[in-house]
Amino acid sequence: METKILLGEKQIPTHWYNIIPDLPGPLAPVLHPGTLKPVTPDDLLPLFPMPLIQQEVSTERWIAIPAAVRDAYRLWRPTPLYRARRLEAALKTPAHIYYKYEGVSPTGSHKPNSAIPQAYYNQLAGTRRLATETGAGQWGSSIALACRMFGLACTVYMVKISFTQKPYRKSMMQLWGAQVFPSPSPETNAGRAALAADPDSQGSLGLAISEAVEDAATHDDTHYALGSVLNHVLLHQTVVGLEAKEQMKAAGEDPDVVLACHGGGSNFSGLAFPFVADRAAGKAVRVVACEPASCPTLTKGVYAFDYGDAAKLAPIVKMYTLGHDFMPPGIHAGGLRYHGASPLVSHLLAAGQIEARAYPQTPCFEAAVTFARTEGIVPAPESSHAIRGAIEEAERAREEGKQRVILFGLSGHGQLDMAAYDAYLSGHLEDFAYPEEKIRASLSRLPKVDF
Ligand SMILES: Cc1ncc(COP(=O)(O)O)c(C=O)c1O
Repeated sequence: METKILLGEKQIPTHWYNIIPDLPGPLAPVLHPGTLKPVTPDDLLPLFPMPLIQQEVSTERWIAIPAAVRDAYRLWRPTPLYRARRLEAALKTPAHIYYKYEGVSPTGSHKPNSAIPQAYYNQLAGTRRLATETGAGQWGSSIALACRMFGLACTVYMVKISFTQKPYRKSMMQLWGAQVFPSPSPETNAGRAALAADPDSQGSLGLAISEAVEDAATHDDTHYALGSVLNHVLLHQTVVGLEAKEQMKAAGEDPDVVLACHGGGSNFSGLAFPFVADRAAGKAVRVVACEPASCPTLTKGVYAFDYGDAAKLAPIVKMYTLGHDFMPPGIHAGGLRYHGASPLVSHLLAAGQIEARAYPQTPCFEAAVTFARTEGIVPAPESSHAIRGAIEEAERAREEGKQRVILFGLSGHGQLDMAAYDAYLSGHLEDFAYPEEKIRASLSRLPKVDF
């Protein structure tokens, strides 16, 4: 029995899996933030190149991955699937635990799976520069690398708390040639307004998105790139789950439960959607999104139309949301601090096709340390939410004396997150109370729409 289940480069998927034709029921329309009417492809052209807009609305189940993108994927794909034997032994569980490890990418997470095709399609369209936001810095570094590979300039608005907590992520982006601003920044109207309201603002993903969208919309040679949430981003990430299915097959097992952490939804969807497709085909696999208790979009949010960003510049989508101007507490899993969730994940949750669980950060770090001490890899704080979920499943299997096959996504390594581990190991990591009042206030400001 092998510990690492590996595929060869020829087995990198040739197509992305688009879940839209397999959804239970049609998706809600995407609305223009100004008119509150459904957006047209033309509305999106200042922000994205046409091939990405077409992917956003495509109903084709399989979409071919361009040769140049597959070629770039070969730098790190296929990624390994591990059997977590040492973790199983430490937990004394009869469960078999597998994890798909995306930390072997050049930037250390799943994010280049979409950064590469986004830069590629923009290069084809003649875009000169991409503007984007980043939470933890994983997306920003991935788009910085992708822009370097396809000859584009790159501007990144980095949520200020991460800019401070993770200075080396900023250095990585600069190494690949990107210009990086802490958000809120004085560079944009959205940033200036936020700084005027609160000069000490720690920032949020929603606010950084506003800055990047404004930058792209006000410069003709610049497009916007988003690292999660949108259909085309989730589509690109499905290479993860498609490979994992082949690898589980090679291991001779079928997962009973698939878990992944959830920020905006691309990591979760990448691993989970190919398995959600099995549910439609009659398999009883459970699929679980794991999120932070202090930014509990899926477990405590409402399913409603809301803006994708704080300054109301991004389209309005129907999603689980905590309110577009909700500022989540400064947890170390910066990539999970988003007020909303992707429309596709939200649709599946509302339809009862997937489950969601929320965990405070201390038990997640405890799980990450158990994982690092058994499997060796230092997980990204975001990924630790999936580890917490997987450990709970394994412990339940032990208590019930039941065999169970658990697959989870280890979306990234945490080697640039050591300040967070320092805080945990020295007993200084705080758990934030569920910010009920702030969420209630933010939800009172949802847009009123007729759909
Ligand atoms: C390592 C890691 N895992 C997961 C996530 C969450 O990703 P998503 O927004 O795609 O759900 C992030 C986001 O930055 C991340 O950096």
